[in-house]
Amino acid sequence: MKTLVAPSVLAADFANLAKEVQMINDSEADFIHVDIMDGVFVPNISMGLPVVEAIARHATKPLDVHLMIVEPDRYLESFKEAGAAHLTVHMEACKHLDRTVHAIKSLGCKAGVALNPHSPVSTLEEIIQELDLVCLMSVNPGFGGQKFIKNTFDKVKKLRKLMDAQGSMAKVEIDGGVSMDNAEALMEAGADILVAGSFVFSSKNPKGTIKRLKNIV
Ligand code: DX5
Ligand code: ZN
Repeated sequence: MKTLVAPSVLAADFANLAKEVQMINDSEADFIHVDIMDGVFVPNISMGLPVVEAIARHATKPLDVHLMIVEPDRYLESFKEAGAAHLTVHMEACKHLDRTVHAIKSLGCKAGVALNPHSPVSTLEEIIQELDLVCLMSVNPGFGGQKFIKNTFDKVKKLRKLMDAQGSMAKVEIDGGVSMDNAEALMEAGADILVAGSFVFSSKNPKGTIKRLKNIV
């Protein structure tokens, strides 16, 4: 299967969001990655529901919403209503992950779980069958434009092994510091979806950059 690409609007020009979303619509991207940060789970605040609604009004691609927030259960329905197609919560932010995953599914969204760089993939062993998506953070979440953590390559392989053992069909997403320097190796290691923020939006030709990522394999 070809690489699935999810440009992260965190690196977009927020004052020209409609134009930036249109660029993604016109590109070969598969999803629009939307980063929600609450200043508590991560040391940064990004955007909230009104911005997600505004993005959804312009988007023709599904919104891949990454919740970097504490107590995500309180907001799942609101993000669904705002236009989320995928809802990804952090394992580290959920006391009752199984309950949260089922709540996401009952809303009709694809359920994703993200793991911080220090969290082992084995922590998903008992829930992997329920997941539509696993997001491996390849930076410590909170900011765009950070350096890719190389240990992610091994982690993708470990995750694939765990998934294969249980016949899981979840998509494997990599988030943080993705560029042409690591994209091919990530796909070889077993990734499905590459999130890319600064690599796409700081390039001269964002649409062309998305195309390059899309055509790695
Ligand atoms: C980081 C966010 C990422 C971020 C990726 O906390 O979850 O989605 O936007 O940005 P880059 O590609 O610049 O590392
Ligand atoms: Zn993200």
